[in-house]
Amino acid sequence: MDKLLIRGGTPLDGDIRISGSKNSALPILAASLLCPAPVQLHNLPHLHDVTTMIDLLGCLGADITVGHNLSTEIDAANANQTIAPYELVKTMRASILVMGPLLARFGQAEVSFPGGCAIGSRPVDLHLRGFEAMGADISIEGGYIKARAEGGLRGANIFMETVTVGGTENLLMAAVLAQGETVLENAAMEPEIVDLARFLNAMGAKIEGIGSATLRIQGVNELHGCEYSVMPDRIETGTYLVAAAATGGSIKVKHTDPNSLDAVLAKLRESGFELQSGDDWISLQSGGRRPKAVGIKTAPFPGFPTDMQAQFMALNTIASGSARVTETIFENRLIQTHEMNRMGANIVIEGNTAIVTGVEKLTGAPVMASDLRASASLVIAGLVAQGETIVDRIYHIDRGYECIEEKLQQLGADIRRITD
Ligand code: UD1
Repeated sequence: MDKLLIRGGTPLDGDIRISGSKNSALPILAASLLCPAPVQLHNLPHLHDVTTMIDLLGCLGADITVGHNLSTEIDAANANQTIAPYELVKTMRASILVMGPLLARFGQAEVSFPGGCAIGSRPVDLHLRGFEAMGADISIEGGYIKARAEGGLRGANIFMETVTVGGTENLLMAAVLAQGETVLENAAMEPEIVDLARFLNAMGAKIEGIGSATLRIQGVNELHGCEYSVMPDRIETGTYLVAAAATGGSIKVKHTDPNSLDAVLAKLRESGFELQSGDDWISLQSGGRRPKAVGIKTAPFPGFPTDMQAQFMALNTIASGSARVTETIFENRLIQTHEMNRMGANIVIEGNTAIVTGVEKLTGAPVMASDLRASASLVIAGLVAQGETIVDRIYHIDRGYECIEEKLQQLGADIRRITD
C-alpha cells in the first residue's frame, strides 16, 4: 500500500496550478447521462473518484472518449442500463448522483445503497424523499435502492429540511427533465452546485435562482450537447494556502477562483497572513510568521466548509494561543485529532468541538489517514513537523488531490511516495 514519506521543516515556496474541482466534476459527469448527445468536458481532475464515475457512466452504456488537455467527451446517446452496481458504489458514495439523471431520463434507476463512511453515517433519505415528491416509487431490495416513475417525473415543491449538497444536486438533475415546474427550497448554495446548474443550463435546462437557496426549474423535454469547463477546486486551493501558511512559506495558487472561498481566506487573514488575489490567482506571504490560533465552526456555504476544517486544525496546532474548532456537518469528522496528538499537538475533544492549544513544534511520526481531508491535514502536519512523518493509507488522499506529492515537491517540500 502506498505511503507518503515527509521530512518536515521546509517552508513551501513557489507557484502551483489548481486542478478542476472533484466535487463539481462528479455531479457534472453524472448529469451528462441526462443528455442524448455528446458533451465535451474540460478541466476534469485526474483523480480516482473521477475515474470511478467515468467507469460507472461506461457501465450504464455511455461512450467515453478521453482526449488530451484534461478533456473528455461523454456521449450518453446509447446509454441503456439503469443499474449502478455495488462494486462501483461501494468505492464512492457520490455514485448515488446517477440516480436523479437515470430516473429523469429513463423513468427508473437501481443504485446500490451507499454505506456510511469514516466521517459519519451520511444518509440519503432527503434525496429519496425528493424523488418521491416528484412521483417516483422507491423501495429498498437486496441492498439496492429501486426507483421507478412510470410516465416520468412530475415537478414538485420540495423543502429540504437539512441543507444537503448531494441531495440538492440529485433533485436538480432530476427536475430538469420532469414535467412542469420544480421548486427546491433550502437548497445548498455551494459553488459546485452553481457550476452544475450552469452546466445543465448550457445543455438547455431552465434553472433560475442559481446560487440562491431557492432553485426554480422548468422541466424541458430534451437536453442538447454542449462544451463545459469544470470550475477550479476551492478545497485544493485552500489546502495549499494553509500548507504554505503553516510551514512559514509563500505561495501563488493559479487557475483558481478567489471568489469561491471567502470564508477560508477570511480565516487565513485572521490568522495573521497577508493575501493578495487577481482574477484567477491568490498569493499568500507568511514572512515566516507564526500563525495566530483561529476559531472555526463549519457550516453550509457561504459558511466555513467542513472540507477545510482538518487543514485549519493542523494550522492551529502550531499557532500562538488556543482555538475551538467545531464541526457541525458530519458527526465523526475530528478523527485526525488523535494522529496529530501523536505528533505532539495539544488537542482535547469536547463533543463536536476540538480545543486546540498551539505548541511550539510538532515532531514527525508514523500516522494513519482515515478520510480524504483528514489525510490532507496530516500531510500539512508532516510538512511542519521536525523529522520524518509517514502517512499511511494515502489512497484516501488520491481520491481528492491530483499529484499531491509532485505539487508539493514543486513548492520545495521533501516528500515522496513509497510502496511496501
Ligand atoms: C458533499 C461533498 C463533501 C462535503 C459535503 C458537505 C461531494 C462529492 N461531497 O457531500 O465533500 O463534505 O458535501 O459540504 O460533493 N444528510 C441527510 N440526509 C440526506 C443527505 C444528507 O441527513 O439525504 C446530512 C448528512 O448526513 C450531513 C449533511 O446532511 O450531515 C450534509 O451532507 P451533504 O451536504 O449531503 O454531503 P454530501 O453531498 O454527501
